[in-house]
Amino acid sequence: MKAIILAAGQGTRLRPVTLTMPKPLVPVANKSLIAYAIDILKDSGLNHIGIVVNDLDSPIPHQLGDGHALGVKLEYIVQAEQLGLAHAVSLCRDFVGDEPFCMFLGDNVFQDKMESLLTGFEQSNAEVAVALGEVPDPSRFGIADLSEGPDHIVRVVEKPKENPPSNLAIAGVYLFRNSIFEAISNITPSWRNELEITDAIQWLISQGKTVSPYILQGWWIDAGKPDAIIQANQYVLGELPYTPAPENGNQVLGSSEVSPRVLLGEGSQIINSMVRGPVIIGKNVIIKDSYIGPYTSIGDNVRIEASEIEASIIMKDCAIRNIPGRIDSSLLADNSQVTSADHVPDAHRFILAENSYVQL
Ligand code: DAU
Repeated sequence: MKAIILAAGQGTRLRPVTLTMPKPLVPVANKSLIAYAIDILKDSGLNHIGIVVNDLDSPIPHQLGDGHALGVKLEYIVQAEQLGLAHAVSLCRDFVGDEPFCMFLGDNVFQDKMESLLTGFEQSNAEVAVALGEVPDPSRFGIADLSEGPDHIVRVVEKPKENPPSNLAIAGVYLFRNSIFEAISNITPSWRNELEITDAIQWLISQGKTVSPYILQGWWIDAGKPDAIIQANQYVLGELPYTPAPENGNQVLGSSEVSPRVLLGEGSQIINSMVRGPVIIGKNVIIKDSYIGPYTSIGDNVRIEASEIEASIIMKDCAIRNIPGRIDSSLLADNSQVTSADHVPDAHRFILAENSYVQL
């Protein structure tokens, strides 16, 4: 069975990070969001994956290439205008042919590996299967109605403004047969002017087809916003297995204190600093006279001096120096610099992109 990953959105809720980096490439525990999706698919034997991108010049094909390094075969399908999830699926028709296929949203992260859903669908009698997860705010998701029993969905509704039929949201994993293409040709754009995959599924239900639910185990995050990305980082780092504290004398220097569950990349050094896991640190990072607290991910070539950071994502090539107070729950994209002035007058100075967020 083939799979498609939808990765063509504009990521507007994650600006300014997504002005230069597509959302699926945002790293969580130093691994891109889309790499988590690819791993789940690969682990269930879905090795041939089509990725829907805005254009072939996007950083996604540049970074992932033909998938060889990830142990999968990748192809790219261009969706020049983001006209909705169902529109994206319709562009994949030639890629998937007439066989059943899986659709995965490239910005969703799951604890559940979903093997039984991914490997059992082809033999099942369902026309569609969807993963469902409980949410506190149904108005932000596609919602499923299971009022006639736990085995089939009787109705789906996209982002219900009022009276949601349940708090079970359609999470970003769907299994379809080729009937989905006929369904898509029978729907019209929604109030947000998108062809909604939820409406195509509802069309199949109204034709008497079986739509099966799969209730997710464990956490699931739709990592569309900065808070959700930071939360996903905490969940993933929280699952790091026990590893002893790194003790290599070339990497842990001076009066440093480093706890277990700290993954330290090649060429990185911790100098006169305290690092409390779970923490992941990439390659060629220097941490000097600083405190790095739990649930922090630090990308390659970062330099942190005389600063305190906790529960944050610091992407590659950043520098943080002499910051008073603690940096907490923050997201710094590639090559960001955060420093304090080393001269009077003591003032704040910012060079920020659209939608930047600063809290002092
Ligand atoms: O996250 C789960 C939710 O995803 C479901 O509960 C909803 O039913 C479903 O409609 C979808 O809602 P969102 O509003 O969160 O979808 P979003 O626009 O964020 O798009 C999800 C992914 O699909 C994202 O990685 C971008 C990609 N995408 C989106 C559109 C609209 C495309 O590749 N092409 C598109 O045209």
